[in-house]
Amino acid sequence: MPMHPDVEKILIDEKTLDEITTRLAGEIDRDYANAEGRVVLVCILKGSIMFMSDLMKKVTVPVEIDCMKVSSYGAGTASSGMVHIYLDLLRADIAECNLLIIEDIVDSGNTLNYLVKYLKGKGAKSVKTCTLLDKPSRRTAPFVPDYIGCEIPDEFVIGYGLDYDEKYRALPYVGVLKRSVYEQ
Ligand code: PRP
Repeated sequence: MPMHPDVEKILIDEKTLDEITTRLAGEIDRDYANAEGRVVLVCILKGSIMFMSDLMKKVTVPVEIDCMKVSSYGAGTASSGMVHIYLDLLRADIAECNLLIIEDIVDSGNTLNYLVKYLKGKGAKSVKTCTLLDKPSRRTAPFVPDYIGCEIPDEFVIGYGLDYDEKYRALPYVGVLKRSVYEQ
């Protein structure tokens, strides 16, 4: 596939994404092989859908899936620091569930820092986190994900689920967005 004209460079290509999801699925299989209770992969909409769908195909331990919709960003590229829950888990059996939150990116850390406490507070048996991309240089909340696909520099990335102004989510690779697109 030719590179999208708004993309400065491809940061993680399709082959590397495939290798990353294979490795992460192996780590999840190893760690949850003897889990007591249900194992639930929780996809954080919308950015995580492509990562979630590729990852869940490769995990071989029995899992259930669920979704949440949260938002920490206002319009554009700046983080507001606020976390809103638009779609919550609708389960009566949360005390039986080992929740593994699936994220596309950890930036400030606000979203996952909040969500882990929130879901533990709801009584989940365990709560862990898996992110495709980690930008530790941007952290304002002290948060370390349990599973990390790839550490990346502080660049504006899109594709493989990630957007700018709701565009570029369907690109099959992670790319760096040209500054001219968002600095107009
Ligand atoms: C993005 C991303 C994470 C969060 C990370 O979601 O998917 O949920 O921001 O940022 P943080 O570490 O600074 O909290 P966004 O609110 O852009 O929604 P989207 O996934 O629907 O695009």
